Amino acid sequence: MKTFLVFSFMFNFNTLLRTTECIETDQVLSITPKTQEQVDILKNVSTQRPYGNLLPSNSSKRRPRSTYSFLVLLPNANELIEMQMRNDSSDPRGSTTFYERYHTLDDIYFWLNRTQQDNPSTVKLILIGSSSEKQPLYVLKLSLNDRPNKKAMWIDCGIHAREWISTAFCLWFVRHSLLFYSQNPDITHILDNMDVYILPVMNPDGYKYTWTTNRMWRKNRAVSKSSSCIGVDLNRNFDAEWCTVGASDDPCSEIYCGTFPESEPESQAVAKFLRRHKDSVQLYFSVHSYSQMLLFPYSCTLDEADNHNELLELAQHAAQKIRRFYRNTYKYGAGAKTIYLASGGSDDWAYNLGIKYSFTFELQDSGRYGFLLPPSYIPQACNEALTALKTITLKVIEKT
Ligand code: ARG
Ligand code: ZN
Repeated sequence: MKTFLVFSFMFNFNTLLRTTECIETDQVLSITPKTQEQVDILKNVSTQRPYGNLLPSNSSKRRPRSTYSFLVLLPNANELIEMQMRNDSSDPRGSTTFYERYHTLDDIYFWLNRTQQDNPSTVKLILIGSSSEKQPLYVLKLSLNDRPNKKAMWIDCGIHAREWISTAFCLWFVRHSLLFYSQNPDITHILDNMDVYILPVMNPDGYKYTWTTNRMWRKNRAVSKSSSCIGVDLNRNFDAEWCTVGASDDPCSEIYCGTFPESEPESQAVAKFLRRHKDSVQLYFSVHSYSQMLLFPYSCTLDEADNHNELLELAQHAAQKIRRFYRNTYKYGAGAKTIYLASGGSDDWAYNLGIKYSFTFELQDSGRYGFLLPPSYIPQACNEALTALKTITLKVIEKT
């Protein structure tokens, strides 16, 4: 049976596991259910508050309670999380180490302004909308030269709140572009031929919430009319076979698709922007974690995309580069067959809009730390993704 990763506060797990040893800290557990009942309970566990009760809701006193077999993956998640939030304030913004840490939403807004002010001729800040809690959605436009009729690429990070390495990648990419344009031949060639639109935090409300309240939050923070559960999965809210497979219409689900396609201000802002710029935007990248994969359409159906073989070849080249340079393995392929069938994703939607080179990257790691990737992994994780992005983009430029 499928294994579930469960982030737990100590209380429910003492009831769940009925161990004699007392769990005194938050932990990440890997649990393999043995019965269908356990599967059903585990499916819901992270969506209920606080993290659900792992005993069957109708568990009668008579029936013997089934026991779970589990493995403690991260024995002290609290410490790990605390370490990731530690931020040396004596550290000057813009220094190298700034990019080797995770940052609060306020720090990122500060960084966005600062980056624009320091590079007034090459960086523009575009306000594309606001979140359900009215936080601004800023896109950075990098335009390193003013050739006419330049093509463009789009990169979004942080659709899912807890995937901190994703947002770290967007910052890393901007630094790399501004620092190495006219030094590194690859990024120079890319920026000579393309503008870059980059959205570092697509889900600011959720991101903030992972810093203040629940490190494992995934969705946005929209209030539901029909339920007391909060949040829509923004990567199930796009108009691509919306809410048919791998998505749920239950507001309490982690993969809740919302009330209609683009019901959420965050997904709507991105969709509107891309519709307006679809003639120039050739490449779409959406950055997630974790599991080390380079995915392309479709995820919403098992059907192959028109240019499936071309996309496969691009992803394969990128994965080979990562293997050669970083000795790390990335799977690649159409989303539906490589990770899972799931409708309403931004990559499939962008592809159907006409952006024929559309990718979702799943960054490090492959499960050891999962969403709690320590900051010391940021450089390599980001460089791997950067290599993939550059490899694909250079080949696409070559084609046109
Ligand atoms: N882990 C990502 C998610 O669940 C994978 C996205 C792949 N693309 C997709 N359209 N489902 O959102
Ligand atoms: Zn994700």
